[in-house]
Amino acid sequence: MRVFIFPADSLRAAIAACLICLGSVTLAEDWTPLNKDGIHDPRSPAIKQLQEPAAALSKLIPDTAGNMVRWVQALEKGEINPRASIRPDTKIRVYDSDVLLNLKGGMPIVRFPHRQHTLWLDCVNCHDHLFKAETGATKFSMLKILEGEQCGVCHGAVSFPLTECFRCHSVARPGQAPKPSLPIAIPAGAVPPK
Ligand code: HEC
Ligand code: HEC
Ligand code: HEC
Repeated sequence: MRVFIFPADSLRAAIAACLICLGSVTLAEDWTPLNKDGIHDPRSPAIKQLQEPAAALSKLIPDTAGNMVRWVQALEKGEINPRASIRPDTKIRVYDSDVLLNLKGGMPIVRFPHRQHTLWLDCVNCHDHLFKAETGATKFSMLKILEGEQCGVCHGAVSFPLTECFRCHSVARPGQAPKPSLPIAIPAGAVPPK
């Protein structure tokens, strides 16, 4: 059991409260069938033509949170091969640079990896309306993230949920207990080659 020092009781309480609401959405054990997802019409005969999420997603590198797929690894291992653009003239920009955030807090440091993000996203998805393209220029806040701003615009909505603390807080501080083991076991051979 590792103990982390949280800055203030109020922040801790707020995080706990937010996680209770998040839990019901993000910890679903199963994939919702199409006829129960509230999007597809269960009475339509066409629904039988569509592949069920469980059939498609259960074949990919598994996760224990969110929609149960380790998406970055599925992409890097070639399990999926999404089209990068619709128009051939779109310039694909992949940026390989990590930014360390939260250098002063009590939780482990946050490593933001550009490369893994720009495999899916273009710069304009984040710059400059969410984050300035300059280290230290953005004022980050875990509370804002939990409220669906900053990293929380995507994490908890379309990418892995905020309950996976140590996937972001992944770098131990000097003198801090070594990086806590990830709450998810990474399957052998699934770690992308460096
Ligand atoms: C999507 C990435 C992400 C996830 C997941 C995440 N955090 Fe954070 N967290 C951040 C960022 C970025 C900051 C930096 C904010 C700042 O500079 O104050 C931060 C800051 C914090 C802080 C304030 C600074 C500190 O270290 O004392 C606390 C406390 C915190 N996070 C707790 C948590 C807990 C607990 C969880 C899991 C329930 C969690 N975080 C999950 C990205 C994340
Ligand atoms: C998912 C969001 C996201 C995407 C997409 C993204 N960035 Fe960033 N970028 C960040 C964050 C967060 C920071 C840190 C901001 C801070 O410290 O205030 C940052 C910082 C930067 C910095 C300054 C630090 C460094 O590493 O050099 C540059 C330059 C930058 N981004 C360029 C880019 C470019 C070019 C692209 C597209 C190829 C891109 N970013 C895509 C989130 C993103
Ligand atoms: C515009 C959307 C978006 C924003 C904003 C965003 N992310 Fe992500 N992030 C993604 C997507 C998409 C993935 C890949 C899918 C997944 O792992 O769930 C990802 C994956 C990650 C990963 C895992 C990389 C891996 O190798 O598995 C980390 C760590 C991460 N994000 C941290 C952050 C932090 C910290 C912030 C805020 C500074 C942030 N993200 C903001 C969309 C976003």
